[in-house]
Amino acid sequence: AATTRYEAETAPAVCDGAIESNHAGYSGSGFCNSTNVVGASSRFTINAASAGTATLAIRYAHGGTDTRSANILVNGSTVQSASAFAATGGWTAWSTKTVTIPVNAGSNAVQLSASTAAGLPNIDYVEV
Ligand code: GCU
Repeated sequence: AATTRYEAETAPAVCDGAIESNHAGYSGSGFCNSTNVVGASSRFTINAASAGTATLAIRYAHGGTDTRSANILVNGSTVQSASAFAATGGWTAWSTKTVTIPVNAGSNAVQLSASTAAGLPNIDYVEV
């Protein structure tokens, strides 16, 4: 089935930090630079045609040298703990990380929540 793109900077998405556009290569008008604290989140409302599992593709950039990590929550439940976001080689080097998530039919709340004080990488969009 075709995928739908949900930009981190476009409501109803919410960014616990700032929408920025200073690192080229993002889709849409910017990306979510969340605050570098535990729990800082990039949140999306995604739609699923039917209940079951869905592939969530997360486009991000991480210009540091460490691996960042995030808990991935769907409808308030943690479905992946400390999921790794490897360094991408630069803040303008965007990569896609793919995870499988459980979904309800219709609207679902997807939250990427930093699991360490390093915060999230910069989040461009998710596709489902
Ligand atoms: C740099 C970079 C930001 C990034 C931040 C971080 O300041 O310019 O885009 O979000 O590092 O470490 O998270």
